[in-house]
Parts: sequence; structure tokens; C-alpha cells
Amino acid sequence: MSISQVFLDKENLRSRLFGEVWRNLIPAVFRDVPTYYDRGNAVASLGTCSPWSRKFAATIGARMRPGSKVLDVCSGTHDVALRLLDIDPSLDVHAVDGSPHMIREGQRRAQVRGLTINAQVCDAHKLPFADGSFDVVTLQFASRHLEIVRAFREIHRVLKPGGIFCHNDMLRPSSRIIEIPYLVYLRFSVWFTAKLFGSSAESLKCVGYFANAIHHFYTPREMSDLLREVGFVDTENRSFLSGIMSYHISRKPQA
Ligand SMILES: C[S@@+](CC[C@H](N)C(=O)[O-])C[C@H]1O[C@@H](n2cnc3c(N)ncnc32)[C@H](O)[C@@H]1O
Repeated sequence: MSISQVFLDKENLRSRLFGEVWRNLIPAVFRDVPTYYDRGNAVASLGTCSPWSRKFAATIGARMRPGSKVLDVCSGTHDVALRLLDIDPSLDVHAVDGSPHMIREGQRRAQVRGLTINAQVCDAHKLPFADGSFDVVTLQFASRHLEIVRAFREIHRVLKPGGIFCHNDMLRPSSRIIEIPYLVYLRFSVWFTAKLFGSSAESLKCVGYFANAIHHFYTPREMSDLLREVGFVDTENRSFLSGIMSYHISRKPQA
């Protein structure tokens, strides 16, 4: 599928602006974060993150068949993977993430609950799976850190025909009235959270990045368009406060 010039230009700009941070700072940030990740998210999002993720997982759960093969990309501490297994323990859940530290914490959480998640460390742009391997692929709170066209094409490749891609992230709000105060708040809350939990120097260097990454990211409508251009169909979208949090559920067409 071909991607329109407007998205290619935006992706080039995102890579130019943030490529250095993605390659060098983000891995260091997530080395530091695993043990306080949930509490940090709760503080930075004023408690909205977890209920929204629960709603996202429940929406996916309602569309899955027992025993489905699921891949959670950028799984971190396995938040989505664990929520899905709570809904249906018969799922065959796989997870990938670039950070061995996040995965280690996720595996610890799975083990405590007696659940199995087959996890491996890899780059989300090069998934180590054959074409058409999964019924469901999830990606939550990570695509801001990715070359999104490359990552979405990989997800499309590893999905079975008819499989669903479930994306959830903090997007760029479609309303400027919401975006402007939100980005000011985000700068403060990321700084405050980093200070509160004694984060590393690398995390403190990322205070401006998190807000800038959202400013240069996609609105919910643009995300739906991008999914269509990558080859997904039947996209459903739900957003909170014009995209502060937004999920999209899309399908890879039957062959
Ligand atoms: C904010 S966390 C989200 C984790 C999890 N999906 C969740 O909802 O809690 C972002 C995750 O993306 C991972 N990540 C960032 N860039 C990546 C890449 N290029 N390849 C694989 N994982 C990546 C980080 O290691 C981190 O665990």
C-alpha cells in the first residue's frame, strides 16, 4: 500500500527531530523505569491511564476467540498482555519489547500470577515472526517512540488475514484549546514524576521530548487515515478529551 506524501513528510520530520532520542535516550529511560512504571503513569496521568487501559483491554477481549494467538508489541511490563490473560486465560500470548529490564519486570508479574507470556527482546520495527502468525496484535503507549509506518507495516505483516490490530496511545489532541494547556501540563508532570521517583539523568533529559513527541504526533483522525493507508480496514476509534488518550481497533482484510 502506498503512503501519502503528507504522512511521509511527517514521518521524516519525526525521525529527524527524535531519531537520536529514540536510539540513545529511550533505552536508557526504560532501564530505570520498570519498578515504578505504574505509579509514575498514575501520577503523570492524574489516574486516568489505568482505567483507559482497562477499557481498551475489555474492548479487545470482546472481539477475541478462546485460544487466540496474541502479540503485544512494546509490551514493557506486560500491562496489556496481563489484562488480556485476566479476561481469557486460554489465550496464547507473546510479547516483545526493546528493553530487557521492562520485560524482566513483566515476566516477574506474570509469574506471580501463575500466567505464561512468551517474551523476547527485539526492535518493534523488525518483528521476529513469520507472516500471518497472529490473530491479534496490540501496541499500547509506545508508538510515539517509533517510526510508525515501518512499525505498522511489520504488525500488518505478522497478522493473519482477518486478524485485528489494537492500538492505544496518547495522541495529539485534535482541539488546540485542549492541546496547548495539555502540553504545558505534560512538561510539568513528566518533570515532577521524574523528580518524585528519583529518575535517571536520561529521563530528566526527556522532559521536553515527551511533550514535543505528542505535538508532532497524529490526531485520532490522522491515526485512522494512517491505518487505512498501511492497509487496515474497518477501523473503530474511541478517544478521551479529543485524543489525550485514544484507541483504534483495525482489521487486516481477508486475503
Ligand atoms: C511507555 S512503555 C509502554 C509499555 C506497555 N505497552 C504499557 O502499555 O505499559 C513504552 C515501551 O516501548 C518500548 N520501546 C520503545 N521503543 C521501542 C522499539 N523501537 N522497539 C521495541 N520496544 C520499544 C520501551 O522499551 C517501553 O517498554
